[in-house]
Amino acid sequence: MVEPMNTAPPRFICFGDQLLEGGAGVRFDVIGPLGQGTAFVVRYKGSVLGYLNQCRHVPAELDWVPGQFFDDSGLYLVCATHGALYEPRSGVCLSGPCKGKGLFPIVVEEREGKVYWIPSERIYPAG
Ligand code: FES
Repeated sequence: MVEPMNTAPPRFICFGDQLLEGGAGVRFDVIGPLGQGTAFVVRYKGSVLGYLNQCRHVPAELDWVPGQFFDDSGLYLVCATHGALYEPRSGVCLSGPCKGKGLFPIVVEEREGKVYWIPSERIYPAG
């Protein structure tokens, strides 16, 4: 029987009230499938959502201005490089060069006013 790998404990990312509905997100460093990079959390329709900060078109971060993940409407996550639009809850690209592909989700939870990231074997803390 193969023992499961240990994963890191939940990591505090930010306070819940730092994430405004459709507003700026919070970035943090991770090691993901392509090596060192960042992930982010945002608030959408009341929930905190988190993804690897990596477009599915080419391996570029989504935000040119750090933390600006939503388009002007506040309804879609947008890649600043070529304008791909992602549906926030599913992470699926609805329009743009990576249409039909999805962002890599990360597990996040909000409790007692704090937002935590739950690392996995695939996406884990950088240091
Ligand atoms: S790099 Fe994101 S749409 Fe091209």
